[in-house]
This record gives sequence, C-alpha cells and structure tokens, in this order.
Amino acid sequence: MLKERMKEAINKQINEELYSAYLYLSMSGYFNSIGLKGFANWMMVQYKEETDHAMKLYNYLLSQGSDIKLLTINEPPHIWDSPLHAFEETLKHEQHITECINELVDLAEELKDRATYNFLQWYINEQVEEEENDREIIDKLNFVGDSKNGIFMIDNELAQRKYVPLIQEGV
Ligand code: FEO
Repeated sequence: MLKERMKEAINKQINEELYSAYLYLSMSGYFNSIGLKGFANWMMVQYKEETDHAMKLYNYLLSQGSDIKLLTINEPPHIWDSPLHAFEETLKHEQHITECINELVDLAEELKDRATYNFLQWYINEQVEEEENDREIIDKLNFVGDSKNGIFMIDNELAQRKYVPLIQEGV
C-alpha cells in the first residue's frame, strides 16, 4: 500500500510521461511536414515508448491498490528551427524527466517505500539510455551541419528504428 504523497507523485509522473508522448508526437508531425520521414518515424517510436512508460506507472499504481488521478496534459510546441533544435529540446526534456525520476527515488527513500524504490530502478536505467540516444543524434547532426546529404543519411538511419512494446521486452 502506497503512502498518499507517493500516490500523488506517481500520478504526476504519469502526466510527465504522457506530456513526453505528446511532445514527441508533435515532433513527429513537424518532421513529416519538412519531409524527413525517418526522423518522423524515430519520434513516432519515441511517442509509443513514452505511452508505455506512463502505462507502466499506471499499472504499478493499480497493483498497489491505488486510485488513478489523471491530470491535464499541457500543449507542446509544434514547430522547431531545425532537426538539431528539435533534438536539443528533446535532450533538455529528457534531462528534466531524469530529474523527476530522481526526485521520485528520493521520495521513496524518505518514505522507506522499498517496493517503489525497487520499481523505479527500471526508469533510472531507461533515462540513461534515453539521454545517450539523444546525445548521439545531436553529435551526428552537429557533424553534418547544413549538408543535405548528411541529413538525408541520418534520416535513412532513423527510419530503421522499430517500436518494441515493453510487454515484449518482458518488463
Ligand atoms: Fe519516459 Fe523519455 O522518458
């Protein structure tokens, strides 16, 4: 059974993850609108992964007998200056999510909530991966600069990303 503060904090994190999904869905639309289908695919996969992150929290609350209290999802931006700008904003957003997860872990420690502390380890590892992926793409975009050929090559690479539902990953 979860303490009230922990229930509230996890409900808030569901909102953070759903906003992330919304942001990346918006970015996918932006990339489509400028003809970069591979970038759009990458962001669409990201959108689906974020809904999985939200659902994992949602199911955890249910498994602990907690109620679900969904909050308003803010409107994300819908346009960016360039692919590089969109990915810089993505990294910034993921750094914010990492802070949110760290705060949840701090709360679990403060409340001596071992189950939630244990549950959150998956998110800690996931955030390392998310930030690393964004940094790699930013490095590539910085490397090619304004080269259309370079952007096209990255677009082809990002078109290969496939969505694997968390349930299939066994987590
Ligand atoms: Fe679910 Fe990208 O943090």
